[in-house]
Amino acid sequence: METIIAMEFAADRLRLIDQRKLPGTYVFYECLTYEDVEFAIKDMVVRGAPAIGAAAAYGVALAARTYRELEATAFRQKLETALTTLNDARPTAVNLMWAIKRMRAKLAFVNDSAIPSAYQVLKQEADAILAEDIAKSEKLSAFGNGLVPQGATILTHCNTGSLAVPGLGTALGIVKAAHRVGKNISVYADETRPRLQGARLTAWELLQEGIPATLIADSVAATLMRDGKISLVVVGADRIAANGDSANKIGTFMLSVVAQRYKVPFYVAAPVSTIDFACPGGGAIVIEERNADEVTCIEGVRVAPEGIRVYNPAFDVTPAENITAIVTEQGILYPPFSGAISRLSH
Ligand code: MRU
Repeated sequence: METIIAMEFAADRLRLIDQRKLPGTYVFYECLTYEDVEFAIKDMVVRGAPAIGAAAAYGVALAARTYRELEATAFRQKLETALTTLNDARPTAVNLMWAIKRMRAKLAFVNDSAIPSAYQVLKQEADAILAEDIAKSEKLSAFGNGLVPQGATILTHCNTGSLAVPGLGTALGIVKAAHRVGKNISVYADETRPRLQGARLTAWELLQEGIPATLIADSVAATLMRDGKISLVVVGADRIAANGDSANKIGTFMLSVVAQRYKVPFYVAAPVSTIDFACPGGGAIVIEERNADEVTCIEGVRVAPEGIRVYNPAFDVTPAENITAIVTEQGILYPPFSGAISRLSH
């Protein structure tokens, strides 16, 4: 099975699979400027922590192309605006800030006389981020496969596959790795309201891979765990604090509480670029709040009365104590996470 890559850069443009339109329509969204990339991240044309980091890196390269004829001071001012704008496109997934930091460092090495070729230098750096993400996701998936018993029934949340991560995925990468080695696994995929990443994207990826899968409403997960129907839960992360507290799609925390109650192993899978070493604990993680429309409407159709108040956090934090292990491309981390995280190279 060929792995889908959620983005490609060719002919001076970034082409993103338009994830707003899946599974009904498979089309690309083309970005010619960094503002196009900012829009794509904000509107979730591209989503998932590593994918938005890689897309933002290409956005910086596009800015260097747009402004390549400016003199040095004006060029650097424009690039700083692009870096800041892309950095701030979404607040929770630290891979975005990680990628921007890396692009800013690369730009700092470009001499004023080399500004006309800064675009090529920055594009190469974005290509490197993409290629490294793919390699990391393969490694992480292989490590995670070691945690999956033969015949396991796996519960997952949101979309953490090739659409969210350049490569196999994180949590869904582990699922795919276990399936590819013939472990006879099956999956329950949470629909993941309000944006339905599970119903629209994970279900689509699982079908593409031929993995036996069942889609459930989010509220079904507790019943399945109580009834002993789930061997393990595996989810991704958008930011992991230095103590192991992990922010991920809203609803993840609730799953972790139920998993703990019924002694179901609860795994978090993420590359080391998702770890915010400067963040001491989950309380310091900024949680994005999104538009009320995401809750009051489904696929553009209003389902709630006009005038109702809405609270729509996009992520929540699972405390480290609810996590059995964190799977990274450098290996599997077990509690106490503070020590295990501090020993990672980054
Ligand atoms: O709002 P989204 O769709 O960008 O949220 C994505 C998630 O929460 C994923 O679980 C997370 O980014 C990990 S994917 C590798």
